[in-house]
Amino acid sequence: MDLGIAGRKAIVCASSRGLGRASAFHLADAGCEVVVNGRDKAKTEATAAEIARATGAKVIPVVADVSTREGQAALFAAMPEPDILVNNNAGPPFRDFRELDRQKMIDGVVGNMIVAIELIQQVVDPMKARNFGRIVNITSGSVKMPIGGLDLSSGARAGLTAFLCGVARQLAPHGITINHLLPGSFATDRLEHNMQTVAKNQNITVEQAKAARTATVPAKRFGDPDEFGAACAFLCSKHAGYITGQNLLMDGGVFPGAF
Ligand SMILES: NC(=O)c1ccc[n+]([C@@H]2O[C@H](COP(=O)([O-])OP(=O)(O)OC[C@H]3O[C@@H](n4cnc5c(N)ncnc54)[C@H](OP(=O)(O)O)[C@@H]3O)[C@@H](O)[C@H]2O)c1
Repeated sequence: MDLGIAGRKAIVCASSRGLGRASAFHLADAGCEVVVNGRDKAKTEATAAEIARATGAKVIPVVADVSTREGQAALFAAMPEPDILVNNNAGPPFRDFRELDRQKMIDGVVGNMIVAIELIQQVVDPMKARNFGRIVNITSGSVKMPIGGLDLSSGARAGLTAFLCGVARQLAPHGITINHLLPGSFATDRLEHNMQTVAKNQNITVEQAKAARTATVPAKRFGDPDEFGAACAFLCSKHAGYITGQNLLMDGGVFPGAF
């Protein structure tokens, strides 16, 4: 399918690896000029070069911490007026909620809620002027189905979702959409790391930990980041202009509700 966004400009935050990388890849493959971002210089530059080689698109690596004002400024210096913004960031680590002091909670809310809102504040006026904008926030299935120990992540991301609910309606008359993609278990470095921790804590092998996790997924497998990237690019496409304020769960059927 022609996504109808060739020539559009896209910033994909936290995209040197994993779900962000897959989203950047599919946007580049659709003909967008893409900013790829991460804190690790070698990895970010290598990913940008790989995507450019595979797709023929212009891909700009920006080595920056998206959680900081300086990092955000670096993203906009590389691409001042994006048509597409994909918000992504690392999530807070697994922790009993009693271990969260005030600073840790503030950092979690900044990372998974405030940063996305700050970036959106900066992109929407030029989008309004062009009567086109696509904003996708990578959040988590935990927004709908919170996971004990990831309470800060669930709370901050649910806060982002609620905050943007009204904003999406405010921006809809201007051709701008805001949607959320909610991953379940996708085979990324982050999941690999989680599985190693589970294996260590339960004194089982990593393969056993993965088998136990996939057994809980109706699809009986982990998601492929490529599937995620394709869905993200679709939400950024010209065809998705009538979809806004939505939460798209991609979890292989784990969430059991009809709505
Ligand atoms: N994979 C899953 O199954 C799953 C499930 C639910 C939710 N999620 C959420 O989805 C998001 C992406 O997960 P993932 O699995 O793709 O993670 P990942 O494989 O660990 O990749 C994270 C990416 O983000 C970059 N990054 C992290 N912090 C950054 C920062 N402050 N500034 C700029 N770049 C940063 C990393 O590069 P550097 O380290 O070089 O900065 C890397 O490119 C996370 O918020 C995660 O909590 C994932």
